[in-house]
Amino acid sequence: MQGVTVVDHPLVQHKLTIMRKKETSTAGFRRLLREISLLLGYEVTRNLELTTTEIETPIETMEAPTLEGKKLVFASVLRAGNGLLEGLLDLVPAARVAHIGLYRDHETLEAVEYFFKAPSDLADRLVIVVDPMLATANSAIAAIDKLKGRGATNIRFLCLLAAPEGIERFIKAHPDVPVFTASIDRQLNDKGYIMPGLGDAGDRMYGTK
Ligand code: PRP
Ligand code: URA
Repeated sequence: MQGVTVVDHPLVQHKLTIMRKKETSTAGFRRLLREISLLLGYEVTRNLELTTTEIETPIETMEAPTLEGKKLVFASVLRAGNGLLEGLLDLVPAARVAHIGLYRDHETLEAVEYFFKAPSDLADRLVIVVDPMLATANSAIAAIDKLKGRGATNIRFLCLLAAPEGIERFIKAHPDVPVFTASIDRQLNDKGYIMPGLGDAGDRMYGTK
C-alpha cells in the first residue's frame, strides 16, 4: 500500500504476538511495547537527513556524519502513545516532545481533545506522531489536523497495529503523511476495535478497566 510501511522484522513480529495474548500481564505488555518501539523507531528514522561536521578523533580530524536540521519532535497521542514515546526517547534523547490528549467517545468513536502542548516551531521540524493503535483513524487524523494547524508540514505516523479501514481513511485525509506499522490486521468490529488486535492499548498498558 502506497505510503504505508509494514515493519516485518522478526523480532517485531515475535514481540507483537506476545503483546496480543490476553494473558500477557500489564508489566509484560509495557515492557514489550518499549522494546518494540526501539525497533519501530529504527525504521521510522531510517532516512533522516545527515550532514557532516569536522571532529577530532584521538588519531586525526575527520568529516563525520550528524543529523541535519533542528531536533525532531515526537508527538505522543495520550495515553497509549507514551508507551512508544519512552523507547523512542532512548533512541533520540535530544528530541522535543508534543503531547496530544485525545480519547475516543465510545458511542460515536469521534476523537475528543482534552490537552495539547507542543514546541512552538513545528514548521521547522520533522514531527513523528506516535500512537499504538490506528483503528477508525479518527484520533490520528485529529492529531495531525491539530499539528498541521500549528504549522507542521513534515510529519510521519508510527503505530503498532492498524485496521485496513483506518489506513484507507487516514490516507484520504493526510496523503502526505507516511505510515509505519507492525501489522495491518483484518478489520474493525462494530465497536471500532481492531480484530484480531490486542484489545484496548491504554487499558493494557496501565492496567485500567
Ligand atoms: C486508543 C488508541 C488511539 C485510539 C485509536 O485510544 O490509543 O488513540 O484509541 O482509535 P481510533 O483510530 O478509532 O481513533 P483511546 O481513545 O482508547 O484513549 P486512551 O489511550 O487514553 O485509552
Ligand atoms: N483503540 C484501542 O486501544 N484498541 C483498538 O482495538 C481500537 C482502538
